[in-house]
Amino acid sequence: MDKKNIDWNDLSFMYIPMDVRYVSNYKDGVWGEGVLSEDSTLVISECAGVLQYAQTCFEGLKAYTTIDGRIVTFRPDLNAERMADSCRRLEMPVFPKERFLEAVDKVVAGNIEFVPPYGSGATMYLRPFMFGSSPVIGVKPAERYQFRLFATPVGPYFKNGIKPISIRVCDYDRAAPHGTGHIKAGLNYAMSLYAIVDAHKMGFDENMYLDAATRTKVEETGGANFIFITKDGKFVTPKSDSILPSITRRSLMVVAKQYLGLEVEEREVYFDEVKDFAECGLCGTAAVISPVGKINDHGKEICFPSGMDEMGPVTKKLYDTLTGIQMGTIEAPEGWIREIKPIYNVQRVKKPLAEVPEGWVRVIQS
Ligand code: PLP
Ligand code: COI
Repeated sequence: MDKKNIDWNDLSFMYIPMDVRYVSNYKDGVWGEGVLSEDSTLVISECAGVLQYAQTCFEGLKAYTTIDGRIVTFRPDLNAERMADSCRRLEMPVFPKERFLEAVDKVVAGNIEFVPPYGSGATMYLRPFMFGSSPVIGVKPAERYQFRLFATPVGPYFKNGIKPISIRVCDYDRAAPHGTGHIKAGLNYAMSLYAIVDAHKMGFDENMYLDAATRTKVEETGGANFIFITKDGKFVTPKSDSILPSITRRSLMVVAKQYLGLEVEEREVYFDEVKDFAECGLCGTAAVISPVGKINDHGKEICFPSGMDEMGPVTKKLYDTLTGIQMGTIEAPEGWIREIKPIYNVQRVKKPLAEVPEGWVRVIQS
């Protein structure tokens, strides 16, 4: 892949295999040394835990080029912590935080020429994930695992960029009370595919999931949390044990309060009150903030005053401040930005095995 051939302005949210990805295998209770692999494919047992019982979880974060040309990531420590929570809930071994951060740095550094330039509208999306690699036939956790992290340059998640989208209230549930909605398990996304394909067929961009127990409260969409702005300018976001604790949403709560001086409420949000909000948006790493113009509730439309052409004024301020922090035009709170150092003397391998035999790979320390 030649950087010259990428039209950054025209990228959608898609996968383009990069030069290197990070791979580490877990065996006999220990994580092996990580390598940067040139191979974007994997060979695993047909009976691997991930294939039989969906034992897998993932993360999503981005690398940005700042206005002064630095390459940075945004709060990757929180992705490491959330992945650790996912692993514990799925009986998978935790990949240590320091190693997670090192993997992020190495993958970005190893593909540095593919980090989209400042102002292009594109970013580099990073996808850490882990899966059970050893054979499992009775229902139980695998014994061996792989942690892997790849990168791909991406454009906007929704095809019209930051234009308002239209969503529908979904009749399927995303997560049960006391289930797995609060972690980033692959299984949460597998079971949402039918609902998203159906939503797209009906002309909607996303699904609004309600709480499974009472179907009266707003939860989230298939890939983002909700934010709302009240008519008197408060920032409101749903609180629930069955939604993913979005890093973007947690950051926006700080931005709203400390940078924009808004009152912030994280609380249960009843669907009945949604019609009274002035603005609505979806927030997440991929979605950034995608404004919602319309919500269809079984044929009844809620149309937000901001309309279908532009973001609402408060959403726009939140968007500009958050992306300004990420791109270095606005000072970030302490610890939010991690700069990538360009040189890593790491061994690159053509083809690591799904499970590298003991002693086959040696990492050269810089
Ligand atoms: N909710 C779901 C279901 C998601 O998949 C995501 C994406 O990661 C989010 C919310 C947003 O989380 P974050 O802001 O950490 O990317
Ligand atoms: C992310 O925003 O990183 C996600 O994982 C959402 C996914 C649906 C693309």
